[in-house]
Amino acid sequence: MSVTSQTAPAPTRVKTSLTGIKPSGEPHLGNLIGAIAPALEMTADYRSLYFIADYHALTTARDPVLLRHWTRSVAATWLAAGLDPSRTLFYRQSDVPETFELMWVLSCVTGKGLMNRAHAYKAARDRNVEAGEDPDAGISMGLYNYPVLMAVDILMMEADVVPVGRDQLQHVEIAADIAGSFNHLYGAGYRFPIPEAVIPPETTGHTLPGLDGRKMSKSYDNYIPLFLPAPKLRKLVRRIPTDSTPVEEPKDADGSAVFQILAQFATPEVTDDARRRLEAGGTGWGELKNLLADVLEERLGPLRERYDALMAPDSELDDVLDAGAAKAREQASRVLREVRAAIGISR
Ligand code: TRP
Repeated sequence: MSVTSQTAPAPTRVKTSLTGIKPSGEPHLGNLIGAIAPALEMTADYRSLYFIADYHALTTARDPVLLRHWTRSVAATWLAAGLDPSRTLFYRQSDVPETFELMWVLSCVTGKGLMNRAHAYKAARDRNVEAGEDPDAGISMGLYNYPVLMAVDILMMEADVVPVGRDQLQHVEIAADIAGSFNHLYGAGYRFPIPEAVIPPETTGHTLPGLDGRKMSKSYDNYIPLFLPAPKLRKLVRRIPTDSTPVEEPKDADGSAVFQILAQFATPEVTDDARRRLEAGGTGWGELKNLLADVLEERLGPLRERYDALMAPDSELDDVLDAGAAKAREQASRVLREVRAAIGISR
């Protein structure tokens, strides 16, 4: 018996994953555990793209020296943390000028109402209304158009999946909406893949407690920077608050910020041993802090060394980004050419 099939099985396209990184401040332990490490895990299973969203930062960054610094710094951070530019595409958004041509095209298929509903804009507006101000006081077109630019980043690279934090989920949904509008109008000529957000599940996208016990975050100013010199790192670890259980008494390991951070950086053996000793009593918080400082130094020391080397003025950082930009522009100009043909702009 033979079964003949008319259609050969469709070749499975390797899916593309795209991560955008906004250069908006000093990287900290929480970024490494919650965002950088999970995003770097995508490299194995996808055609992986990572880029520095420097033009997105412009909606708030007003200091050119700082913006330049954070752009280099965030690029160096990801490379130091293990991003491998030979297995991924790594580039700066501003090095891909095609982005801004597609931005106009996609703006023309994006409903203004969709932008009115975007969280960041709505929140800024609500704050104004509450304060009795003009609803749009202090709101730039950059903030308003931010989701369109992000849709362009995603669609230009024909990304299928976008690993993001929960706060960026709506932006990826907006990108999917915009892709849908474009495909509906011009699908006969060119179709964008519809992107999907990937939110790291609680088990891999860990949140770390900060120096005050709340979630480690730049906005709470309670963070431990990734690249502190060892003695400063140790000093900050000493500042993490603990309860006043005496040394000899049993302690609540899981309720302690020091232990929670340790659990993210130490091997399971070291973590289990620390837990046993805390719960048995006889181990004080000071001892646990020393252990945490040692564990952090062991893990972060090599990263800091790579980071410092990349931040040096003549490092290979710029070459890496230039090489990435050239490849990103090949992809971008191909998509833009197809889009222009589809919409009737090319001759
Ligand atoms: N808006 C994202 C953030 O604040 C950064 C970003 C810009 C992005 N463009 C993107 C993330 C495209 C994913 C895909 O974190």
